[in-house]
Amino acid sequence: MHMSEVNQQPLDAMAYASDWTPDMVRDEVGALKHKPGALLPILHAVQNRIGYIPEGAVAIIAEAMQQTRAEVHGVISFYHHFRTHPVGSKVIHVCRAEACQAMGGRMLEAHIKACLGVEYHGTSADNEFTLEPVYCLGNCACAPSIRVNDDIHGRMTPKKFDRLADKFTTSTLDIR
Ligand code: FES
Repeated sequence: MHMSEVNQQPLDAMAYASDWTPDMVRDEVGALKHKPGALLPILHAVQNRIGYIPEGAVAIIAEAMQQTRAEVHGVISFYHHFRTHPVGSKVIHVCRAEACQAMGGRMLEAHIKACLGVEYHGTSADNEFTLEPVYCLGNCACAPSIRVNDDIHGRMTPKKFDRLADKFTTSTLDIR
């Protein structure tokens, strides 16, 4: 959809998934909108609360901040941190920076993708894992490194990853 079409869509016509409500977004906007440079903190707060920034939330934020939806979209797309789609219960960040690459990062990355059956920015079929690239986790001495939600795991190997995935899987995950 072209950005101008997004802008013309009426707020009430926008479907929102059952994982969030407009009031959740309004709460976060209301708490932060009077602060200077409020847009970024609002986007962070909404993503922290819902897990991503739904399209319907963009409309609410834009209206409250007296900006166009295109302007809010512009900020969201500028920062890789922000997501516009739901993610799995575990977000796995694989470090693609130099030190990790030098220590087998590419092989590890290929293994993880094959295990989960997803490419970067994808979510496994069971909605358990979302895979994201990252460029240095500050754990270069223990390369290669990955982060699962907030926890960094160093000296990662395909075998260690399989054990970790088994531990985290609450439903059956097909590890190939
Ligand atoms: S290069 Fe991977 S943690 Fe720094």
